[in-house]
Amino acid sequence: MALTRIDRDGEIAVITIDNPPVNALSQALRQDLWDAVAALDADPSVAAVVLTCAGRTFIAGADVTEFGKPPQPPHLPDLVDRIEGAAKPWIAAIHGSALGGGFEVAMGCRFRVAARGASVGLPEVTLGIVPGASGTVRTPRLAGVQAAVTLVTTGKPVRAPAALSMGLVDALADDLVPEAVAFARDALTRPLPAPVSARAIAPVDDAFWTEAEAATRKAAKGAEAPLRALACLRRASEVAFPEATAFERQTFMDLRGSEQAAALRHVFFAERAAPRPARLRDVAPRKLAHVGVIGGGTMGAGIIAACQDAGLAVTLIERDDEALARGVANLRAIHDGAVSRGRLTADAAAARLDTLTASTDYAAIGACDLVIEAVFEQIDVKRAVFDALGRHARADAVLATNTSYLDPRDIAQGLPHPERFIGLHFFSPANVMRLLEIVPVRNTAPDVLATGFDLARRLGKIPVQSGICDGFIGNRILKRTRAEAEALLREGVPIAAVDAAMRAHGMAMGPFEAQDLGGLDIAFLQREGARAAGQDIPETLGDILVRAGRKGQKTGGGWYDYAPGQRKPMPSAAVAALLSPHLAPDPGMAPEAIARRIIGAMAAEGQAILDEGIAASAADIDLVKIHGYGYPRWRGGPMFQQSRVNP
Ligand code: 3HC
Ligand code: NAI
Repeated sequence: MALTRIDRDGEIAVITIDNPPVNALSQALRQDLWDAVAALDADPSVAAVVLTCAGRTFIAGADVTEFGKPPQPPHLPDLVDRIEGAAKPWIAAIHGSALGGGFEVAMGCRFRVAARGASVGLPEVTLGIVPGASGTVRTPRLAGVQAAVTLVTTGKPVRAPAALSMGLVDALADDLVPEAVAFARDALTRPLPAPVSARAIAPVDDAFWTEAEAATRKAAKGAEAPLRALACLRRASEVAFPEATAFERQTFMDLRGSEQAAALRHVFFAERAAPRPARLRDVAPRKLAHVGVIGGGTMGAGIIAACQDAGLAVTLIERDDEALARGVANLRAIHDGAVSRGRLTADAAAARLDTLTASTDYAAIGACDLVIEAVFEQIDVKRAVFDALGRHARADAVLATNTSYLDPRDIAQGLPHPERFIGLHFFSPANVMRLLEIVPVRNTAPDVLATGFDLARRLGKIPVQSGICDGFIGNRILKRTRAEAEALLREGVPIAAVDAAMRAHGMAMGPFEAQDLGGLDIAFLQREGARAAGQDIPETLGDILVRAGRKGQKTGGGWYDYAPGQRKPMPSAAVAALLSPHLAPDPGMAPEAIARRIIGAMAAEGQAILDEGIAASAADIDLVKIHGYGYPRWRGGPMFQQSRVNP
C-alpha cells in the first residue's frame, strides 16, 4: 500500500505522507519518497513540491522499531540529500511534531513552513543516539552553533514561534497546506536561497566548546549520547559538509547498537505502553474536572499543585483552621518556587491560590469527581476520613488513598459504594515526580481504575498498576535495596563506598545519604510497630542509629555527620563506634561489584513481585524505579539490566 499521495494545485505538487500513527520513516516510506523525487523532477508541469503529512503529526522521526535490525536502503541521509538536490524546490509543511529524522527531512527541503502549534526538535539523545541524517551538520547552518548545541544535546523540541525566531523554520501558518502552497508560489518569484548544506557556519571559539562540554557532561549524568552529539556539532563547525556528515553517521552507527541505546529504547516503549493497559481499552473513565484533597501536608500540597498545573479545580479539606492555613502556605511555597524558577508567572500562581477552595467542612467535598486522601499514615485517622467521605462525597465520586504502607482494603472497610475506591500512590514531591502507582482493590470498578489512568494522563504522570503488598512495587523494592546495602556494610564495605558506587552507577544519591535526607525514623517506627504487633523483625543497623538519636540530616546526623546548615555528608566517628561490633573488616570490594549486588537485589525483589502478580510486567517495574526513585534512565532499569546479564 502506498504511504504517500501526490495531489496538484496548479504548478505546485503536494505530497502527503500517510503512515500512521506518527509517519515514522520506515524503509517503505523512505523508498516512496525516494521514488517521488525522481517522478516529480521528471514532470515538467511541476515547479515546486510541498511535503506534508496526514494524521496527528508531521514525520516523528526514524522508525524506532527498525533500530535493532540491519539498516536497509535507501538510507535516510541519502534521502535527505536527494530531496535537497531535487531539481524542484521542496517546502516542508509541518504540523504536530517534526522530530529527529522528520526534522532532518524538513532541513533537506529548501523552506519550512510550520503550523503555529507545531514543534520541531532532535530528540535522538533521549534514545541514546545522535541525529543520523545530518541533524548535527545542517542545524548549525540554519540556526547557529549555540542554538544547535541546545537543541541537539538536550533533545528538547521547540515550539514553532521559537523555531521561527531561531531560523529553524521560515514562516508560520494558520491554514497549513494552502499557506505552504502560497509560500511556494511566492518563493518561485525570487532567486532561491542556497540549500542548507551549502550555507556557512559562523565560527565559535574554543572557550565556547570547553564550556559546552562541561555543561553537557553535568546535565547528561552518565548518559553517553549528549557528549557524542556535542562532538559531532564541534566537528561540523570545523570541517566541510561531507566530512562532518560522515563523522555524524559513524557516531550514529556506533551508538545505535550500544547498551545505552537499547536501554533507552526499552524505556521509550515501556512509557508508551504503560498508560494504555489492554484490559482498559474499551473502558471509559469517569468524569474528572474537580479534585478533592484531604490533608494539605507534604503530599497533599504537592498533589494539589500537580492538579492545578493540569487545570483541574481543587478543594482542600483539613482537620482545623490552623492546619488549613498551613496547607495553603505549603501550596503557596510550591507555586512561589515555580515562579522563582521561571516556570509560572506570578499572576498564574496567585490565580491558583485564589481558585482553591479550602475548608474544614466536608460539605465542600460534594462538588468533587475524585477525592484523594493524604492524611497521617494511621489507620484510625484514615478510616475516620473515609467515614466522612462516605457521608459527604457523591455516590459516583472516585475515592482514593495515597497510603504508602497501609493495606487499602483496611482503609476502605465499611465504605458505601466500595466499587469507587482505589489507591493512588504519588511520590514526593508529588508535583515533580512522574510516577503514579495505581492500586485497585478487589471491588474497584473498571471505570474507576480507568479514571486513575486518566488522572495520570492529565497530570503528565507515568501510571503503573500495582497489586497489594507491603510497600506496593516501589517501596517494597526500596526496603530490599536498603537491606542489601546494610548487608554490604556488615560484610565490611564502608558506608561511603556503597553510596559512591551507586552514584557512579548513575543514581542521584546513594542509599545511605538518601536515608539521611528523608529521615531514618519513618522506617524505624514502622519496624517498631510491626515488632509491637508480634512480628519477628531483626534489629537493623539503621535501628541502632535511630536509638542513638541519629535520625538523619534533621538531627544533625544519621549514617553521616553534617555541619550545621550543611548537606554535605561527612564520615562519622560516632557511627563507626556504634556499628563496629557488627561489621567485618573492609573486603575492598570494587564499586562495580557493590552496584551489581544492589541491582541484583532490586531485580530479585522485582522478580518476586512479578511472580506474585503484583506488577504486570518487568518494564512496569523499571518505570517505577526510573520515575519514582531516580534510577538512571539510560540504564533501562534494574529488570532490564538483569535481563542483559541473564537473558
Ligand atoms: N518510531 C516508531 N514508532 C513510534 C515513533 C517512532 N519514531 N514515535 C512514536 N511511535 C509510536 C509509539 O510507540 C506509539 O505506538 P503504539 O500506539 O503502538 O503504542 C504511537 O507511535 C504513538 O506514540 P505516542 O503515544 O508517543 O503519541 P503522541 O501523540 O503522544 O506523541 C510524538 C507523538 C510527539 C511524535 C511522540 O510519539 C514522540 O515523541 N515520538 C518519538 C520521536 C522521536 O524520538 N524521534 C526520533 C527518532 S530517532 C531518529 O529520528 C534518528 C534519525 O536522526 C536518523
Ligand atoms: P504530612 O504529615 O505532611 O501531612 C498530613 C496532613 O494531613 C497534615 O497537614 C494534617 O493536618 C492532615 N490531617 C491529618 N488528619 C486529618 C484529618 N482527619 N482530616 C484532614 N486532614 C488531616 O504527611 P505526608 O507526608 O503528606 O503523608 C500523607 C500521606 O501520604 C501518608 O499516608 C503517607 O504515607 C503518604 N505518602 C507520603 C509520602 C512522603 O514521601 N511523604 C510519599 C507517598 C505517600
